[in-house]
Amino acid sequence: MQKHRVFRVPRSYASATHETLRAEILGVLEPIIFDSYRHSSAIREKLEHSFANQVEQSYAVAVHSGTIGLFLALQACGIGPGDEVITVGNSDISTTGMIRQCGAIPVLCDVLETDYTINPDLVEGLITDKTRAILPVDLHGHPANVKQLRSLADQYHLKIIEDAALACGALDYDKPLGAFADVCMYSFAPFKPLGSVGNGAMIVTNDEAIHLRLRSLVGYGYDPRKTNVTVGYQNYVEQGYNVPLDGLQAAIVLVKLPYLKKWTAQRRAIVNDLYKGLSGASASLPTFRQESAPTFRSYAIGVDNQFEVYQKLLDAGIETVIHYSPPVYRYTVNSDGMRNSDQLPVTDYLATRVVNLPVTPELTPDDTDYMINTLKDILKK
Ligand SMILES: Cc1ncc(COP(=O)(O)O)c(C=O)c1O
Repeated sequence: MQKHRVFRVPRSYASATHETLRAEILGVLEPIIFDSYRHSSAIREKLEHSFANQVEQSYAVAVHSGTIGLFLALQACGIGPGDEVITVGNSDISTTGMIRQCGAIPVLCDVLETDYTINPDLVEGLITDKTRAILPVDLHGHPANVKQLRSLADQYHLKIIEDAALACGALDYDKPLGAFADVCMYSFAPFKPLGSVGNGAMIVTNDEAIHLRLRSLVGYGYDPRKTNVTVGYQNYVEQGYNVPLDGLQAAIVLVKLPYLKKWTAQRRAIVNDLYKGLSGASASLPTFRQESAPTFRSYAIGVDNQFEVYQKLLDAGIETVIHYSPPVYRYTVNSDGMRNSDQLPVTDYLATRVVNLPVTPELTPDDTDYMINTLKDILKK
């Protein structure tokens, strides 16, 4: 079990988990590599089917990355030049980046200090006649209150594109994420709760029209439903891309999918121990709505002296990360093109405080105790 364990408490220990699944993984990879690459599409389709079932959605489209997944989801919702999309500033650069790639304008909404997700009470004030969609992010695996946003979206005829890149396994109102959105994206990048060993993502929807548009965009703009054509090129109905999930990554995710519930429970148990152990310490711990059942990609806590604490945790062998700080609207590349970035006091405040403690299912009680004691020691000084 010590293989590749460089940190005393690592951020991910996926290689050890893969070791335990070695025979299963090789069993699925073997036909692709040693028989025919044509098995790739069958495995990808199997993963789409199993994933759609698991998140209780009608359709799932496996794509090359979460970034392209967001782009295609926005395109499939008809987002284009000049449209406004209400989202948050405390996310990966790809969230706002893909809105901008569509030619649309990210309008930034402030977030809740409790769970760091979009503040649904502030969204209505940002709606203009150019608003076409809301793009909430389930940051760190914390469900945004998409149910509350749904009524607003219906009232103003807006689409909801949910960025659940970090949140595979989370539930809200007893439903897997995506239930209140028009379309939802889950990432399979290696540090995500359901990781491949490269890039990958799944876009899910209950909307048949969105699904068909996604299929076409993912595969060269090809519409497989057009059967009565005389020559093949007549199936190409729009300019598309070629970005399906690679079969090798699909195989790994397919093997891991049945374990997701168990791993999510383990992540929650680790956070529960951290929460108990750290209460009373001078750190602010996230709190959640009663209906929200996060998957914890990490444990994002707030501390004074963010960088000092971060460095001391690293020195103690705890693989801590500072995610989404500075917020995306402070990046040079985003110095123009976003709206409302001067009205985000909570986002700004959190960016100066959040440090992400490692949470990965393989951590032992000893690891958790070590994190609690080390952090308490650092915060006392
Ligand atoms: C919130 C969020 N959205 C989107 C992405 C992009 O996903 P990917 O890395 O699969 O392209 C990430 C990646 O970390 C993310 O954290």
